[in-house]
Amino acid sequence: MSTVLYEKKGHVGLITLNNPKKLNALSAAFMTEIENAVAEVEKDTDVYVCIITGVEKAFIAGADISEMCPLTAAGAIAWGKQGTDLNLRIENLRVPVIAAVNGFALGGGCELAMACDIRIASEKAKFGQPEVGLGITPGAGGTQRLPRLVGAGIAKELLYTGRMINAQEAYRIGLVNKVTAPEELMDAAFALADEIIKNAQIAVQQTKRCVNRGIETDIVTGIDFEQQAFAVCNATEDKQIGMGAFLRKEKEKNFVYR
Ligand code: CAA
Repeated sequence: MSTVLYEKKGHVGLITLNNPKKLNALSAAFMTEIENAVAEVEKDTDVYVCIITGVEKAFIAGADISEMCPLTAAGAIAWGKQGTDLNLRIENLRVPVIAAVNGFALGGGCELAMACDIRIASEKAKFGQPEVGLGITPGAGGTQRLPRLVGAGIAKELLYTGRMINAQEAYRIGLVNKVTAPEELMDAAFALADEIIKNAQIAVQQTKRCVNRGIETDIVTGIDFEQQAFAVCNATEDKQIGMGAFLRKEKEKNFVYR
């Protein structure tokens, strides 16, 4: 059985990380399987939201330490690129990505969750960047995405101590958007996906691009980017459908993704 499962549920592409014996540790082979699942989402325009989750007690317990142990500096650059590229690919995926964090999200697991657009967590989830305790820095974006999400002060405390935090603490610092009972996690993820899916998808996808690009630039450039996206959306059929429904006082909006 594959260690990464991909299935489509309506307009949701669901990626389930399924290597519980290794707590979904990110080996090169496992990352290739995740890449393949992400590629399925990328090529399917009928997928509007992607959800990534894990089985049993781990989301991802980090990069595979047995693979990293023998790496030299040069080898680490090559090895680290796979995880870095995977996270950039997830971050830049056309559709919103929800991390439904069921358990350990450590090191490379926390980094992959942070590359997703939105994180919701089970009460059993645990987050952390324990790399300094292994003699390394984070290697797939942890020093970059954590400060952007929670601010430099809190991020530095977590990065320098390698401390593991629980789901409530992750919620308090803004690392996750919501905490649920373990048995309610997937329902919560799908409910959130449904709220997104009911909207006009070109507008949702343009909004994702604006936020991602805008965060990396000055506000004038970001607003210019938003103006372009605003123009694109105004030329869509979905704009006529959305505004037409409002003006006719109709609740039903059957967006066509055009
Ligand atoms: N790499 C390789 N194997 C791992 C792993 C990892 N990151 N995490 C867990 N495993 C393996 C364990 O070796 C064990 O395998 P065996 O049964 O063959 O011995 C199996 O998964 C189950 O793990 P445990 O027995 O340790 O489970 P536990 O419940 O007692 O502890 C845990 C869970 C606290 C998460 C513990 O496994 C742990 O500390 N794991 C390592 C966490 C970590 O340091 N992650 C960061 C890695 S560095 C990184 O990610 C760099 C980067 O930025 C890219």
